[in-house]
Amino acid sequence: MLHSSAFTPGALLTGRRALVTGGAAGIGAAIAHAFAAHGADVLVADIAPRAPLDFDPGAGGAITTVEFDVRTGTADLLLAHEPDILVNNVGHYLRPPHLFADNTVELWRELHEINLGHVLRLTHAVLPGITERGRGGSIINLTTVEAHRAIPGHTVYSAYNAALTQFTRSLAAEVGPAGIRVNAIAPDLIETVQVPYADLVPEEDLPLWPTWSPLGGPGQPEDVAGAALFLASGLSRFVTGTTIHVDGGTNANGGWSPRSSGGWTNRPRNP
Ligand SMILES: NC(=O)c1ccc[n+]([C@@H]2O[C@H](COP(=O)([O-])OP(=O)(O)OC[C@H]3O[C@@H](n4cnc5c(N)ncnc54)[C@H](O)[C@@H]3O)[C@@H](O)[C@H]2O)c1
Repeated sequence: MLHSSAFTPGALLTGRRALVTGGAAGIGAAIAHAFAAHGADVLVADIAPRAPLDFDPGAGGAITTVEFDVRTGTADLLLAHEPDILVNNVGHYLRPPHLFADNTVELWRELHEINLGHVLRLTHAVLPGITERGRGGSIINLTTVEAHRAIPGHTVYSAYNAALTQFTRSLAAEVGPAGIRVNAIAPDLIETVQVPYADLVPEEDLPLWPTWSPLGGPGQPEDVAGAALFLASGLSRFVTGTTIHVDGGTNANGGWSPRSSGGWTNRPRNP
């Protein structure tokens, strides 16, 4: 029996139109470039536009960047692009770790706006157009490993990202019948401006990477872009409401670390 397949080699997003928030640097930029390299017409909305990086235009893709603050910008400018792929990539922990007891209400508001508020607003604004055009669509929300495990010192950041995970699941159930898929990507250990491991990890600690994650590290923005390309394209046509963990295995690994003497422990004596 012959199987109909969307999985032939070649460009995966020919003719698709994508909107990527925070796509001028880091993970968002890698996603924008992967999409364009696979033929998508990509609009990047970023508070700090930068010169676009090179990508192979052979597949007919393009990247346009507009200056846009997801916390305050009005979506109309972005809706004119008529996206059928939306990547809600902007998110941040905003402050060095500190106790919940020392939080202010103002910080909770800021964390809400940068991690959850804009995702609700932009998704709400984009959905009617995707539905009306009837070409199907894919919405991809960037969360974090800390939506799935604890992060002491960032309690409210983790709470809003857990909320985003649940928003992803419930919206997927609502809009699936319209051919729109909604998924999340939960990164950890990706080298970016937000988490510059090259500066954070001293030279003498580099051999410790294999003890911090089953796949070592750090990961690169392109590692997340691979998952986003999968979720945006027909490769994932039967996948919705789920999270892909791009973290070198830290979510699965939980509190386990390898012992220097062999085996593993979840009760390290010299953390
Ligand atoms: N890097 C990691 O290991 C990691 C880990 C967990 C979660 N994440 C999540 O992945 C996503 C991308 O992370 P990253 O490390 O690439 O981030 P980054 O901070 O390095 O880059 C974010 C991009 O968003 C833009 N931006 C910031 N605020 C904006 C605003 N208000 N409006 C529009 N654009 C804005 C920045 O200019 C930048 O181009 C975020 O949601 C982040 O929380 C990343």
